[in-house]
Amino acid sequence: MTNTTLAAINGATCLDDLYKVFDAHHYTAGWHKKRRSLWPQPATEFTPQHWRYAEAMAALDRAGEWIGTDLAERRNLLMFNPVGDNDYASTRTLVTAYQMIKPGEYARAHRHSPNALRVVLDAQPGLFTVVNGIKLPMNPGDVLLTPNWCWHSHYNEGQHKAYWIDVLDVPLVHQLEPMFYEEFPDGYQPVTSEPKESAFCYPLAWAEAELAKAEAAAGVRRLVLPSQPHIPTMELSHMALARGATTGVERTTANRIFAIVRGQGTSVVGGKRFEWHRGDVFVVPTWAPFEITASEDAIIFQANDEPTQRMLGFYRRATQP
Ligand SMILES: [Fe+2]
Repeated sequence: MTNTTLAAINGATCLDDLYKVFDAHHYTAGWHKKRRSLWPQPATEFTPQHWRYAEAMAALDRAGEWIGTDLAERRNLLMFNPVGDNDYASTRTLVTAYQMIKPGEYARAHRHSPNALRVVLDAQPGLFTVVNGIKLPMNPGDVLLTPNWCWHSHYNEGQHKAYWIDVLDVPLVHQLEPMFYEEFPDGYQPVTSEPKESAFCYPLAWAEAELAKAEAAAGVRRLVLPSQPHIPTMELSHMALARGATTGVERTTANRIFAIVRGQGTSVVGGKRFEWHRGDVFVVPTWAPFEITASEDAIIFQANDEPTQRMLGFYRRATQP
């Protein structure tokens, strides 16, 4: 503060005079805040939302008439939560998008501090991702990781368009701000290995075999993918629901993204009812009660920020959702 500021403070004849000085010098009186800073339980502005694969596929097909991978770094359709001026994040910490790549196209290599993963929806032989030189085929239902600062590029050397869902922790990085991004020189990263198995790829066939071994609770089997050594911010999992099975109501502080790998059914999230089909996505914001019911055998992928919240000591689960 300058002497003028001190003079203004000392010259105040009432609190309102003081508040004007505070405003001018970037102070807020703790007893005179415009907004609350503490509240009894989570009260996010983010809302439960549902996006349909059939719509996204049609939209990407239309966009593909005009947008090539030469113009778009990635031809993707972000699913944003309609809250305030947000046009990016799907939940407070995570973002998800549909992506399409045409035969003969490649999405050039880059790397960034946010972690990313893909859930493949529709693909034919010839679709692959390269992660730090490792060539990974992409088949329907597979989950592929591109962890923090790994070079990654996508190729479609097949005959048909391919579609997948991306999930990233970019909104979390936006909050904390350690964002770094770099393009690979000339765009192409060389393939250095083509392993049969990789810690960066969880094939659907493997996941189904693991789910079959898991104990069923009321027709629901769960499999947490061993991905956290590579992506510590998120928990990734699959859930298999037999026809008619339901998860029961759950309520936690985690922000969750669900993607339907197979089947159809309904969800009730924060009082909103969603009827989902294969390829659809729905999100559960923090503290929203949710329940998932399958009307036919289903496999549902989930990414959530529970590990981040646990690491920070913030995670809570309601005992009576
Ligand atoms: Fe990327």
